[in-house]
Amino acid sequence: MSKEIIAVSFGTSDAEARETCILPMEEAYARAFPNIPVRRAFTSRFIRAKLAREGIVIDSPEEAIAKVRAAGREPVIASTHLIPGLEYERLRDIAGDLPVSAPLLSDDADLARVASILADIRDRSGRALVLMGHGTDHAADDTYRRLRACLPENIFLACVEGEYTLDTVMLRLEALSDRRLLLMPLMLVAGDHARNDMSGPEPDSWTSRLTAAGFDPMPRLVGLGAIPAVQRMYIDKLSAVL
Ligand code: CO
Repeated sequence: MSKEIIAVSFGTSDAEARETCILPMEEAYARAFPNIPVRRAFTSRFIRAKLAREGIVIDSPEEAIAKVRAAGREPVIASTHLIPGLEYERLRDIAGDLPVSAPLLSDDADLARVASILADIRDRSGRALVLMGHGTDHAADDTYRRLRACLPENIFLACVEGEYTLDTVMLRLEALSDRRLLLMPLMLVAGDHARNDMSGPEPDSWTSRLTAAGFDPMPRLVGLGAIPAVQRMYIDKLSAVL
């Protein structure tokens, strides 16, 4: 039976982030597997409902699976999740026996590969790199600890939720002699968290807090889905289940 790839993410209500972070990831799958159609699904019910009110209809994974089967094809799920957390577990449950690719940060080799991609970004910018991860109450929050443990010098990772808040890296940032920082989301998309929690004008955004602490933070609104080296990792993970 011919296959069809369902590229699944949490989703974002931010049109620019869909254009610059999710679409390029889907296009990368399409280039890597030119004979297999690619379609989109978002797991977030909240985001799908919000988009539906704007007239933009995006399938849930269940809907996408049903459509692919109705077309007589075999669904293959491309997970664009970062960690094997709640969203990924739910997706595995929905997929049942269908193949699902692994999250970006699954094994130690993944952590090393991401660390080296981040080191390139740090080197090209000439600034210390501060990453905003999402974080979670799920046990998979430990993935962020494991990634932190293999990050090279002058790369710092903190999260919006979970245990690894900005405060947990502040002391180490304080020890930097060069106060210039590059801020980036460690998320598939540079969406709401990147725009508001990371770089927004509110006093509790990371940019505001770091500026108040005497740093010179430069936010960069680029999600991982827009970075070719990360796209290659996701493609390798999909290859493994295809
Ligand atoms: Co969130």
